[in-house]
Amino acid sequence: MFDDKPDIQGRTEIETLVNAFYDRVREDEVLGFIFNKVAQTNWETHLPKMYAFWETVLFRSGGYLGNPIAAHAKLVPQTAMGRAQFDHWLALFRATVDDLFAGEKADHIKRCAEDMANVIYSKINAVPDPRFDPANLTPEQRERYARYKQSVA
Ligand code: HEM
Repeated sequence: MFDDKPDIQGRTEIETLVNAFYDRVREDEVLGFIFNKVAQTNWETHLPKMYAFWETVLFRSGGYLGNPIAAHAKLVPQTAMGRAQFDHWLALFRATVDDLFAGEKADHIKRCAEDMANVIYSKINAVPDPRFDPANLTPEQRERYARYKQSVA
C-alpha cells in the first residue's frame, strides 16, 4: 500500500514526534508514573532537551550535551528499570513514529532508539550488551568478530 506519511526532515518533525511520544508516555500505565511521580519531570525543560537529543542523533545538529546513562542510572534505586520497561518504551516509541512518519529517517530513528535502549539498559543494570555476545551474531558477523579477536590477541 502507498504510504503517504512524510519522513522526518528536521527540527520541526522532531518536535512533533517528541511531543506526541511524551503525550503518550505521560498517560502510560507502565511509564507515566516514572516521569510524573519518581523523577517529577519538569516537562518545560525535558521536552527541549529531547528535541536537542534527537536532532543531534539524526542530523548532528541540536547541540545535545547531556548524559543519558547517568539520568537513567539515577532512577534504578527508585523504580524498576528492567528489560520490560525498556521494551515497553521502545514499543511506544516505534508506534508513535509509525503513526506520524515513514521513510529513511523514520526507520533510522527507530534503530537509534533500539541501540540506545540496549546501551542504557545494559549500563544501568550492569549486564553485557547483547550485541557484544558472539552467540547473538550472524555467521558473517561472527567471522568478523573472530578475525577481530585474533588481531587483538
Ligand atoms: C524504561 C525506559 C525509560 C524510562 C522510564 C526513561 C525515563 C527517563 C526519565 C525519568 C528521565 C529524566 C527526565 C527528567 O529530567 O525529569 C529521562 C531522561 C532522558 N531520557 Fe529516558 N527513559 C527511558 C528510556 C530512554 C531511551 C531508550 C532513551 C534514548 C533513546 C532515552 C533518552 C533520554 C534522554 C536523552 C534523557 C535526558 C538525559 C539528560 O538529562 O541529558 N530514555 N528518561
